[in-house]
Amino acid sequence: MDIGKYKKRIVVTGGAGFIGSNLLLTLVPRYPEYFFVNVDKLTYAGNLANLKEIENAENYRFEKVDIRDFNALSAIYEKYDIGSVMHLAAESHVDRSIIGPADFIQTNIIGTFNLLELYRARFKKDASTFLHISTDEVYGSLGEGGYFTEYSAYRPNSPYSASKASADHLVRAYHNTYGLHPVITNCSNNFGPYQFPEKLIPLMIRNACEGKKLPVYGDGKHVRDWLYVEDHCEALDLVFHEGEPGQTYNIGAHNEIENIELVRLICGIMDEMLGGGPREALIEFVPDRPGHDRRYAIDSTRIIKELGWRPQVSFEEGLRKTVQWYLDNRAWLDNCINGEYVKYYEQNYTDRQS
Ligand code: NAD
Ligand code: DAU
Repeated sequence: MDIGKYKKRIVVTGGAGFIGSNLLLTLVPRYPEYFFVNVDKLTYAGNLANLKEIENAENYRFEKVDIRDFNALSAIYEKYDIGSVMHLAAESHVDRSIIGPADFIQTNIIGTFNLLELYRARFKKDASTFLHISTDEVYGSLGEGGYFTEYSAYRPNSPYSASKASADHLVRAYHNTYGLHPVITNCSNNFGPYQFPEKLIPLMIRNACEGKKLPVYGDGKHVRDWLYVEDHCEALDLVFHEGEPGQTYNIGAHNEIENIELVRLICGIMDEMLGGGPREALIEFVPDRPGHDRRYAIDSTRIIKELGWRPQVSFEEGLRKTVQWYLDNRAWLDNCINGEYVKYYEQNYTDRQS
């Protein structure tokens, strides 16, 4: 393989996960002049079945590597002469970080450190970009008003968000200390195809399909600000190519909604599509998540004004497309349900203590 003919050689970490898969499915056909190496450990959340459409593409390879393993990562960088990275690999689920934070510290902090060290060793001005994908959860929780901006203070409240905040600080430090060119994105809750059914929307769709209870934490009035995954991927493409080195870009689509209202909407859409119901009757309030952030809302003015990004998919349209995707892909959903999932589900939902 003549790797030198490709204009950029890019490692995409976590490319078999929810956002990583959507990103690769978009970018691999869009940029035949780039070579993409999907570096993923394939945890419970990684699924190569997502990537069937591109698995034989000439400009794409998969490498099963744990980002905690510096030597293994280094060998991949040598093998493909890697210049840039889109870093998505992470332990991503808040409830799991509460049950057991160790993997979050190892993957999200040490893994990011390993990637930064490789970036530093191989850095070429104007040729190397480090796109670090982070979350709005680093900013903590909002009251009834206001928005997270790029200048909001970091106040992470869960082991997950604290580990992501630590990684963000490392990335920032590598810019300030070594003059490297990383860019950070902090986005709100994504939804869409290929999301693992531990997260609110696919979990509710799956449980409703099965006629199981729909567990809403606490009073259900916690607010999340939803972003359709394809709009997020377009934003990442833009920031990778045009983001200013050392800068942070918040990404969100102004779709704030209380969890209870969202679950009711999902039930309504499913009643309409499948008949039967009302599925709302399956809703059950369960003890709250410890340290549960009350409200997230993102101010995306910078990426809109400076890079011209605009979300294209309305919340209603995105939600309908998502429900339809899960109904059309029951086999994908059923394949997620293995012993590991059952154990996690029992740990998280049986005898919940707030
Ligand atoms: P996900 O859990 O669906 O996928 C994570 C992927 O990372 C999986 O493919 C998994 O196998 C891989 N991975 C985990 N540990 C690894 C390791 N040690 N080495 C190599 N690969 C490893 O996550 P997602 O929802 O797609 O999130 C992707 C990124 O976006 C994460 O960094 C997350 O913090 C961030 N983010 C997600 C959301 C969201 O709503 N999903 C919002 C904001 C930010
Ligand atoms: O804001 C960005 C973050 O969004 C990402 O950084 C995380 O990786 C991603 O997991 C997501 O975190 P949340 O904790 O907001 O997402 P989750 O889908 O777990 O929960 C959404 C809301 O729904 C939250 O307020 C908790 C609530 N919830 C969740 C589940 C799984 C319930 O009420 N019941 C549930 O069963």
